[in-house]
Amino acid sequence: MNAIPPKKLFIRTYGCQMNVYDSERMTEALTGAGYEAVDAPEDADLVLLNTCHIREKAAEKVYSELGRIRKLADEKAEQGGTMRVGVTGCVAQAEGEEIVRRQPLVDLVVGPQAYHRLPAMLDALDEGKGAQIVTDFPTEDKFEALPQRARRTSPSAFLSVQEGCDKFCAFCVVPYTRGAEFSRPVVQVIAEAQRLAESGVREVTLLGQNVNAYHGEGKGGTWSLARLIREVAGVEGIDRIRYTTSHPNDMDDDLIAAHAEVQELMPYLHLPVQSGSDRILKAMNRKHTADSYLRLIDRIRATRPDIAMSGDFIVGFPGETDADFDETLALMDAVGYAHAFSFKYSPRPGTPASGAEQVPEAVKEERLARLNEVLRVHQTRFQESCIGRTMPVLFEKVGREPGQLIGRSPYLQPVHAYVPESALQQIVPVRIDAGFPNSLSGTPVGALSSEHA
Ligand code: 5AD
Ligand code: SF4
Repeated sequence: MNAIPPKKLFIRTYGCQMNVYDSERMTEALTGAGYEAVDAPEDADLVLLNTCHIREKAAEKVYSELGRIRKLADEKAEQGGTMRVGVTGCVAQAEGEEIVRRQPLVDLVVGPQAYHRLPAMLDALDEGKGAQIVTDFPTEDKFEALPQRARRTSPSAFLSVQEGCDKFCAFCVVPYTRGAEFSRPVVQVIAEAQRLAESGVREVTLLGQNVNAYHGEGKGGTWSLARLIREVAGVEGIDRIRYTTSHPNDMDDDLIAAHAEVQELMPYLHLPVQSGSDRILKAMNRKHTADSYLRLIDRIRATRPDIAMSGDFIVGFPGETDADFDETLALMDAVGYAHAFSFKYSPRPGTPASGAEQVPEAVKEERLARLNEVLRVHQTRFQESCIGRTMPVLFEKVGREPGQLIGRSPYLQPVHAYVPESALQQIVPVRIDAGFPNSLSGTPVGALSSEHA
């Protein structure tokens, strides 16, 4: 008897780590429904665009990508095949039916809370039921309904613990596309961490749009992120924990203390501030000030002196003056970021700031360039400060040069070193010899060990 050959699935992922995680889970769900993942859309049977809506012209980019896919679908049709096309993620949530109206090629529009429904939606297509659109927030738990995670090849994995956001920063579309804050129950998170560890994962990054607001149901009531982290640290095989993204107002004392007490928790914290001007922070509805942010960082550094900070900045928010922008640069100097992301403000339809008068594009461009120059100086300073230090590196993959492996430092920097392949998936102490803009290189120190350094 001949087995039915698997159908080919291609997913293109845009945007944040949450989307990367979701794409993995969708792949797993569809593998169970007879698909196998491929690396190119050309002759795929199902193409999914897992989209991001956070910044500029997101929807327009999706429509132009769909135009390109239409050509591939037409070619496939000429050869007698069919290509199903779906849009998932935040643009799907925001645009809904409009997507099918503008690009009738699209068969599936699926919001981020409904991915577990994909196999059933595909069945409905097979039955000739026409385009399937689900952008509501179903009551069932998609995480429970999605199949278990497949075997991993990388020792580092994302683990989604929280979704949505209740903060309503005036620029941000997340509370509308991802909905209200939802935290996965502790048992689910721990079970997933255990399964990941059993399949060779040693580092988990706990994901959430506002992850430090985590408040999942656990033994005895509601658990905080700090408590969850302590529990994940107890999972055998998990040696490194990270979490992202956090809001300054949700950094409670226990979470700060965990940075000193939980040795698996990496000394690297992504804590977006967006602006250094109190006037702009207020207009952004951030509910913190530049000073309260700086005092928070002082407390974190007093607890964990070697912590490296990362952040997000928006330039050109409506009403931002030169003086406001100078305050952002001053805040950056006061913190000294190891790494940061910088964005020009982009009005997101439906968000409170979107109707306000815009800062001229040329001014945004000029501020972004200045901010990036400051960041470059900070980042170089941080890279150079690593030279001569010995740090534990988790080796993830082979490098371009023969004999070379690439791993990650505690500070997320890629580290290149000549180490035997047996070091893959291991944490090895490496003395850093050189720093580059986006990576380090070094020499392993002492015997290779599977223990954490
Ligand atoms: N314009 C520019 N940047 C934005 N971000 C979120 N919304 C916008 C917007 N409308 C940035 C913020 C956030 C990061 C994920 O994206 O800095 O922290
Ligand atoms: Fe958006 Fe983050 Fe603000 Fe939530 S806290 S509204 S996700 S920027």
